[in-house]
Amino acid sequence: MSVTEEITATGVLPRRLLLGPGPSELDPEVLRAMTRPPLGHLDPALLEILADVQDGLREAFRTGYEVTLALSGTGTSGMQASLANTIEPGDSVVVGTIGYFGERLVEMAERLGARVTRVSAGWGESLDPDLLREAVRRERPRVVAVVHGETATGVAQGSMPEIATIAHEADALLVVDSVASLGGHPVNVDEWGVDVCYSGSQKALGAPSGMAPITASERAMERLRGRRSPVSSFYLDLGLLADYWIGHKYHHTISAPLIYALQAALGILRSEGLEARWRRHERNYLALRAGLEAMGLSVVAPADRVLWTVAAVRLPEKVDAARVQRGLLEGHDIDVAGGLGPLRGKVIRIGLMGYGSQQRFVLLILGALEQVLRAEGYAVTPGAGLSKAMAVYEG
Ligand SMILES: Cc1ncc(COP(=O)(O)O)c(C=O)c1O
Repeated sequence: MSVTEEITATGVLPRRLLLGPGPSELDPEVLRAMTRPPLGHLDPALLEILADVQDGLREAFRTGYEVTLALSGTGTSGMQASLANTIEPGDSVVVGTIGYFGERLVEMAERLGARVTRVSAGWGESLDPDLLREAVRRERPRVVAVVHGETATGVAQGSMPEIATIAHEADALLVVDSVASLGGHPVNVDEWGVDVCYSGSQKALGAPSGMAPITASERAMERLRGRRSPVSSFYLDLGLLADYWIGHKYHHTISAPLIYALQAALGILRSEGLEARWRRHERNYLALRAGLEAMGLSVVAPADRVLWTVAAVRLPEKVDAARVQRGLLEGHDIDVAGGLGPLRGKVIRIGLMGYGSQQRFVLLILGALEQVLRAEGYAVTPGAGLSKAMAVYEG
């Protein structure tokens, strides 16, 4: 047993290096923050922390929206809240989908009783704004929803200001999923004109899973106040949540340890600087990709649409992706993910997010991957990936 392992009631807890598409590695300061003594959800000291978290989230989202807070739930709760607060049964909704999480938006909107029109790009591509415009002009939806960073393919959706204009020309609200991008890849809520943007704490923001940051424009809040029917979810009603976060009126018992962790993570983001953080993610992503390419592998995302937080890495046809994933976990304690949907069995997904986006982790995974691939019978020139990645860092 290594000194970093812990014993629990169910046995020894392995110490993994989390290099999948979330959850990500935690800065020791974030881990320490969670062990602070708990506070009540209406304690003045906790309310002061909530105000600081709201400021930190506004900086991360690049927004001045008053209603900016964190839901008690994972990224999926952000998706559910965004749709439940903007859609009423019978509404028309246009969803732009570029992969797995866009499909989830479609399913959720349908479950909320919306008439959904799907505009799809192939997995690995990004949306063509012209196709979206055509659908929005035809359907005149209440809501247009898109995923900014598609974790299944490692693609970042481009043309965000244009997509906002398309939605607003039809008087629709624009909902954007930034679960995999916020804090690691440029997201500019105000500049783009996004109405509701949600994320997750456990990826590039660098906190544990369990909180979902969300921000909503005054326009979205006005629509919410004028609804024909109440929001179907009491728990995720943004009006009630704003009454708690801003008005300090009880709604639910927020988890103080998760709030401490999010505050610490946002403090780290603030001292690093958002743009410097984006650059760090870009640099480590590019070094990883260069290393992978030198090993004869490729990423799914086209060069002009890469998401700097996640790489979906195509494996050679004869190599079994599940075995590679298992080899990294069992042989190197490195946690990566497999493929989703049509990419299942064809890719592994490597995430470099938040504290996990570091040069030493890039070099570590390239070395480990080389060893695992060689064990699987795939010929890799020894050290080719590592030396190419190092050249990026030295260049
Ligand atoms: C783009 C995107 N949206 C939504 C989610 C759902 O978040 P969670 O798993 O935290 O509920 C994820 C999770 O990977 C994601 O990558």
